[in-house]
Amino acid sequence: MDLGFRGEVAGFYQRYRRGYPPAVIDVLVDVLGLTPADLVVDLGCGTGQLSIPVARRVGAVLGVDPEPDMLALARRTADEAGVHNTSWMVGSDREVTRLRAVLGQRRVAALTVGQALHWMDHRKLFSSATPMLRPGGGIAVLTNGIPLWLQDSPWSQALRQFLQDWFGTTLQRRCGSDSATQLEYADSLRSAGLVVTESVVEYADELTLEQMIGGVYSALSVTQLPSAERRPAFDQGLADALASHGPLVENVPVAMIIGHVQE
Ligand SMILES: C[S@@+](CC[C@H](N)C(=O)[O-])C[C@H]1O[C@@H](n2cnc3c(N)ncnc32)[C@H](O)[C@@H]1O
Repeated sequence: MDLGFRGEVAGFYQRYRRGYPPAVIDVLVDVLGLTPADLVVDLGCGTGQLSIPVARRVGAVLGVDPEPDMLALARRTADEAGVHNTSWMVGSDREVTRLRAVLGQRRVAALTVGQALHWMDHRKLFSSATPMLRPGGGIAVLTNGIPLWLQDSPWSQALRQFLQDWFGTTLQRRCGSDSATQLEYADSLRSAGLVVTESVVEYADELTLEQMIGGVYSALSVTQLPSAERRPAFDQGLADALASHGPLVENVPVAMIIGHVQE
């Protein structure tokens, strides 16, 4: 399936998509006992939002993603940040068994999945990845907030209305952030034999109009992006929709479901 995380969208993703605050990385380090001797695999790594801060705390991170454009930007971002203990591999959740073959006897401390599990077969993934984990290690599922247009605030409702009118469709997909899906993820980790802990790091942040537009573009597939000719009208329409709603403050709950191997 073509999810469209390429070309211009990859650029918008790298530039405008939220990373993860230090408190989130601290939880991963604490719960999984991550150390500078550890290897972490970040599946669905995108442009490295999670891989790069995790790499600062462990021995090495292997970022895996099916989209070469996302990986190219992840590599460049890591290099520019001086984070050189990262490697990047084209692959998907369906290829975890190949990773096991590459690793041989080596065990990973964590398989992290940041804001990407909703495109994967989580039950199959968790059962095939669990044998790769070192004692005390685990699988961490992170959900980075709620889509900008599905929040409860007045500005989010205005954004939703604008996008629904523009695209002529109802926007409902919560990208795994709804409570039913979160429960399903936890249950699936337990079914793979892991002990589950859950936490949420929540913070508030004000977005500029440019960040709001970039955030929306980063969530579209390349085939949905407004054409160059229509983009000024899209941007202006979005600005008009939000004009009476400033400041654009977003509450960002980062939900973490971590299944770890009992030692
Ligand atoms: C919303 S981005 C998340 C990027 C980053 N992990 C983050 O937290 O911001 C989702 C990423 O998952 C990747 N992806 C989609 N389907 C996948 C699959 N079946 N296996 C692995 N990655 C996948 C996409 O290419 C995209 O880069």
